[in-house]
Amino acid sequence: MATEDKPGWLTRAKARAEAITLGPALQEVGRVRSVGDGVATLSGLATARLDEMLAFDKGYFGFVHALERDHVSCILLDGLDEIEAGDSAHRTGEVLRVPVGPGLLGRVVDPLGRPLDDKGPITAERHDGIEQPAPAIIDRDLVTEPVQTGLLVIDTLFALGRGQRELIIGDRAIGKTAIAVDTIISQKASDIVCVYVAVGQKSSTVRRVIDAVQKHGAPERCIFVIAESSASAGLQWIAPFAGFTMAEHFRDRGGHALIVIDDMSKHAETHRQLALLTGQPPGREAYPGDVFHVQARMLERAAKLAPSKGGGSLTALPIAVTDAGNLSAYIPTNLISITDGQIVLNAKLFHEQEKPAVDVGLSVSRVGGKTQAPALREAAESLRIDYAQFLEIEIFTRFGGMSDARVKRQIRRGRRIGAALAQPQYSPLSLIEEVGLILALQGGLLDALELADIQIFRGKVGGWLADNAKSACEEIASAATLNAANRQAMLDALGALAKTFPATDTP
Ligand SMILES: Nc1ncnc2c1ncn2[C@@H]1O[C@H](COP(=O)(O)OP(=O)(O)OP(=O)(O)O)[C@@H](O)[C@H]1O
Ligand SMILES: [Mg+2]
Repeated sequence: MATEDKPGWLTRAKARAEAITLGPALQEVGRVRSVGDGVATLSGLATARLDEMLAFDKGYFGFVHALERDHVSCILLDGLDEIEAGDSAHRTGEVLRVPVGPGLLGRVVDPLGRPLDDKGPITAERHDGIEQPAPAIIDRDLVTEPVQTGLLVIDTLFALGRGQRELIIGDRAIGKTAIAVDTIISQKASDIVCVYVAVGQKSSTVRRVIDAVQKHGAPERCIFVIAESSASAGLQWIAPFAGFTMAEHFRDRGGHALIVIDDMSKHAETHRQLALLTGQPPGREAYPGDVFHVQARMLERAAKLAPSKGGGSLTALPIAVTDAGNLSAYIPTNLISITDGQIVLNAKLFHEQEKPAVDVGLSVSRVGGKTQAPALREAAESLRIDYAQFLEIEIFTRFGGMSDARVKRQIRRGRRIGAALAQPQYSPLSLIEEVGLILALQGGLLDALELADIQIFRGKVGGWLADNAKSACEEIASAATLNAANRQAMLDALGALAKTFPATDTP
């Protein structure tokens, strides 16, 4: 065998050697002129293109962020402490690509798709560029299917739809991340793939999010893309783009995905930092003029696709931080105008222990109630008005007066709605539980309960309905509508549950 193999190998090698054309080849070599704060200035790369990856001879990578007459500015992705003036680099002719595919599910990765957990290398289906065009109008469809957040206040008052972009905005540390995490946990009961992107967050916060999803949610259908505050500015800048590319993979194959970007304010700050370091002129609040375009281009990638494109969807929940509730600062107004609505969190409510601290007056979902699950829409019809009226009346009654029995009843009902809308973390409600709670509230079944008992009622309602109104629950879960018969069956069961609680003296 060996003697027969030898000539074959030799001929092959000879043929390969002959195929090589020897001669001079032109290769541009860039030289690092200066480096600092994660940005390197290189000369000698006259044909380099914007966003092109550069490979440094020391084995590190960066991408071109600004082109000047005699130099290019390159954002370093790694080796920030190793690269120094005089080092050489060359063009790769490639844009930044990240691994995509089901192999990422259940994994914690950095924005380049390198594993940060101890589950071994990532098996990628393919590698896609981090910048992708948003779907064209003709390829889109109306947003009509719901995303169940499991938070009563959001699902009933500001329903989210698949393909929608809803901003979560509020001051520091008042539960913005908590809303996003509860939404991810709630997807345990759906088919939605969740991508959580952390930009410039503390490692401890990121750890808490991952632990919560692993404990309460379906981590095998989640991807965590992490660029913490200690990561290079370059990695923080590309993180949301990389997350979108990973999520789009599922959208484009007819699946449903949800992306959380925690948070866009940090991303805007990183963008400003890089712009100032690469010499772009500062504009309002020192942000460069293109910050709106960068964030709009990113969020436009969330979409509901037309049936001809597979009918998949990508829902985006960007998070933004405000200072002292100021929604009219530059980045918050930009983001509000880019998205299809906002969940506004109020620091005062949070400190009054009304959590989640959603400001019912300022929050909106511009996609509208047509995305709400039909049973919930029918049940929650008048809830918003009842609650808004209560909030107004309550202010007046603080000054005494208003002893009218009808007003007292409204206030009693409003307080109970408020108590039902407050919800602890990591306990998202199912559709049946939400419908049950709303029916009980509207039917006045909870008016006689102590406020403190409403939380206990919420904990019991799912199991009770499953035992005592089984067929109605099944109907609502499958046909997803409320009719006279199953509404009555639900109300009977709920009334029996309410009777198990001690009544307070009714007015
Ligand atoms: N519904 C809730 N019930 C009880 N505690 C909550 C609730 N929501 C949030 N919290 C608590 O409030 C604190 C702040 O929440 P979270 O980290 O989500 O805020 P944040 O607005 O994302 O903060 P940051 O601005 O630092 O990102 C956490 O300790 C969290 O456990
Ligand atoms: Mg947060």
